[in-house]
Amino acid sequence: MTDATGDALPLVVVGVGRIGLYHARHVQELGRELGLCELVGVVDGYGDTAERVARQLQEGQEKEIRAFGSVADLLGAGLAEGGAVVASRSEDHESDARAMVDAGWRVLLEKPLTDSLESAEELAAYLNNDESRSRALMLAFMRRFDAALIHAREMLAERIGRIFKIVSILEDSHPPPEGYQSPGLLTDMAVHNADEIIWLTGRDPVAVTGTGARLYNQKISSVREEIDDAFVQLWLADDAIGQIQVSRNHVAGYRNETSIYGEEGMIRVGHFQEDPLKVQFEAYGRGVLIERRSFWLRDYGDGVPVFIQRFGPAYKAEVAHFAEQCRDHGPFCVDQNDGLRAMRVVAAGTESLRMAGDARSIA
Ligand SMILES: NC(=O)c1ccc[n+]([C@@H]2O[C@H](COP(=O)([O-])OP(=O)(O)OC[C@H]3O[C@@H](n4cnc5c(N)ncnc54)[C@H](O)[C@@H]3O)[C@@H](O)[C@H]2O)c1
Repeated sequence: MTDATGDALPLVVVGVGRIGLYHARHVQELGRELGLCELVGVVDGYGDTAERVARQLQEGQEKEIRAFGSVADLLGAGLAEGGAVVASRSEDHESDARAMVDAGWRVLLEKPLTDSLESAEELAAYLNNDESRSRALMLAFMRRFDAALIHAREMLAERIGRIFKIVSILEDSHPPPEGYQSPGLLTDMAVHNADEIIWLTGRDPVAVTGTGARLYNQKISSVREEIDDAFVQLWLADDAIGQIQVSRNHVAGYRNETSIYGEEGMIRVGHFQEDPLKVQFEAYGRGVLIERRSFWLRDYGDGVPVFIQRFGPAYKAEVAHFAEQCRDHGPFCVDQNDGLRAMRVVAAGTESLRMAGDARSIA
């Protein structure tokens, strides 16, 4: 068992449910591999989760991992200031992130920025209002750290010409687990796609429309959501569109695909297939294949959440970026303003799909 050096950045994880546990593991791995950071505490108010996870992870390191039932307890304990990965429920993002930032910590906050557009606007304004606070938060849009998507972004301009359309698809195979708190299908899932489209094109959305339905998942899930299937279209600056397809109904398996259309060709990242550890990348010019390759993912073993299987290395790379920028007092490459921009898209999409008057009867 090797531990991080004395220079390692102390990190805590707030909320160690499905994803927080893996953030904590990645912190430990980055400590062992690079001496970059050190897990010093976990916070969770649900049952004995904090103690249980601290005990479980302690087996992987010598430095004590302290367990806290709340952010207030953590801040009262006088730990050396460092970084906090906040992966609590979406409804707790704002209060947890604000408390940590107010206490002088930098925060890597899970998506969505908050659970409503109103609170997201408030949090972003609060952070932006002050020089030091404005640099305190990184938003955990892990797609920006995914090797296959980064490769696509690098190839875009020179290989497929001006982009006029992106189709971004995210479909779950199972309902969220019992007890999961969802702020709604679009806020929970489509924020990823909205940010991906904005990040890949570098263009701002100017209008949004959406439509949705309750098809299957809501008949079998205890987690209440207004819809379980949706289509959202974004009009982007410079004559382009983004199309988002999200659902909880792809029972054959987790589906994650991005297709980028340009005036000289197209790029596709991922398509649903039998091996969840392979992400297929294809770039085509007019009638010719430019590049085809596979990006291989890390095998986290059986029973891990599907998003860990697909994005595990990206989650680890985002924690590494967070720790490096904390250590170097540098800016984060993705922050509250990106989180807010994506929230505006999904809020507009939700508002649009509630206006059933858009549909024309043909009976
Ligand atoms: N970036 C991504 O791809 C990604 C993936 C999953 C989740 N997330 C985000 O991370 C955050 C946490 O998501 P998660 O999937 O880890 O949620 P989770 O429900 O597993 O855990 C979140 C918190 O809720 C607690 N909890 C778990 N079961 C509970 C219950 N029955 N009653 C009360 N509390 C309970 C957990 O202990 C934890 O503190 C959310 O904001 C979510 O949007 C992001």
